[in-house]
Amino acid sequence: MRIIVLGFGNVAQPFVKILCEREKELSGNFGLKPRVVAVVDRGGAIVSSSGLNFTRILEAKKLGKSVAADTKLGRPRTTGMEIIEEVEADVVVEATPTNIVDGEPGLSFIKAALKKKRNVIATNKGPLAIALPSLMELARYNGVCLRFSGTVGGGTPLLDLGKKCLLGDKIQSIKGILNGTTNYILARMTEARVQMDDALKEAQAAGYAEADPTYDVKGIDSACKLVILANWLMDRRITIKDVNISGITEVTLNEIVKAEEEKAAIKLIASINGGEASVSPRLLPKNHPLCVGGTLNAVTFTTEFAGEITLVGHGAGGVQTAGAVLRDLIDIKRELSL
Ligand SMILES: NC(=O)c1ccc[n+]([C@@H]2O[C@H](COP(=O)([O-])OP(=O)(O)OC[C@H]3O[C@@H](n4cnc5c(N)ncnc54)[C@H](OP(=O)(O)O)[C@@H]3O)[C@@H](O)[C@H]2O)c1
Repeated sequence: MRIIVLGFGNVAQPFVKILCEREKELSGNFGLKPRVVAVVDRGGAIVSSSGLNFTRILEAKKLGKSVAADTKLGRPRTTGMEIIEEVEADVVVEATPTNIVDGEPGLSFIKAALKKKRNVIATNKGPLAIALPSLMELARYNGVCLRFSGTVGGGTPLLDLGKKCLLGDKIQSIKGILNGTTNYILARMTEARVQMDDALKEAQAAGYAEADPTYDVKGIDSACKLVILANWLMDRRITIKDVNISGITEVTLNEIVKAEEEKAAIKLIASINGGEASVSPRLLPKNHPLCVGGTLNAVTFTTEFAGEITLVGHGAGGVQTAGAVLRDLIDIKRELSL
């Protein structure tokens, strides 16, 4: 299986490491013989139709160099679009940074790859939040798979649980905590009685929050993930424009303390049922299954037959998300018998 990797950061690097370390297991257990034929970062690309050896490439990235710096196989300034057009492959892994304004560059990469009849695995939720219904249609039209397990819940199989383990059942509503950064901030405000700014600084120091945490605290990241869950698991053809969003920026320490006195907690909850899709801070009893601490994610699916099922796990992390990409790869292999 020939693979193009677009973006080579915290997710894509552990992904190629896993492929190298698990070569025998993947072949023996799943008949999967992955061959990464091209990798692209901001500086350009590295290409080899016989498959890349990653020892040198990973060393170069550690030193802050582009993959294109390789003297033999590097192609400085070559773009992802050029690689999608020129390099023969079965699967394109899209792992460039999230951009929720116009989805780029990921949106163009995913569209071009699907049009070229390449299967796509995305970890980048920006393009999906903006255009998932049309991207799913484009994949169907071209007879290829579009998978994105790592976009919601990191390595926690939220999308897989709903799609695979509940076959024949119907998910009627989804409600949960989909953003670890905001959960950490609210939890720290509760435990340590610190103001939101200080809790945010702690989250940044611990590596849980970006330097620019706007997407997280304004509820946009949670809304993107809700859109993906709703499309994939409930056949709701919505985009981020259809979600009512309010983040945690207005939550005060006083409100948190008051909630605590009532044996409750304020959590940023994303939810969708028959009608509205929304993200907003809500009061939950302390013993509620969604009342998880730290950076955890937790989601309750209400289904027609099984009733309520709650899944709790780590919502992000490079290795965790790389594991989700591997699951998608095995899934595509099974689906298409490549
Ligand atoms: N990290 C997580 O825990 C996690 C979890 C779930 C989902 N995700 C999503 O997965 C995606 C990748 O995350 P990450 O943590 O790996 O990000 P990252 O560490 O910032 O890596 C992003 C990579 O994309 C490359 N890139 C940027 N613009 C590009 C362009 N125009 N063409 C080609 N490559 C480009 C960067 O190149 P340089 O190396 O040259 O800078 C870098 O290699 C993001 O959308 C993120 O939201 C991440």
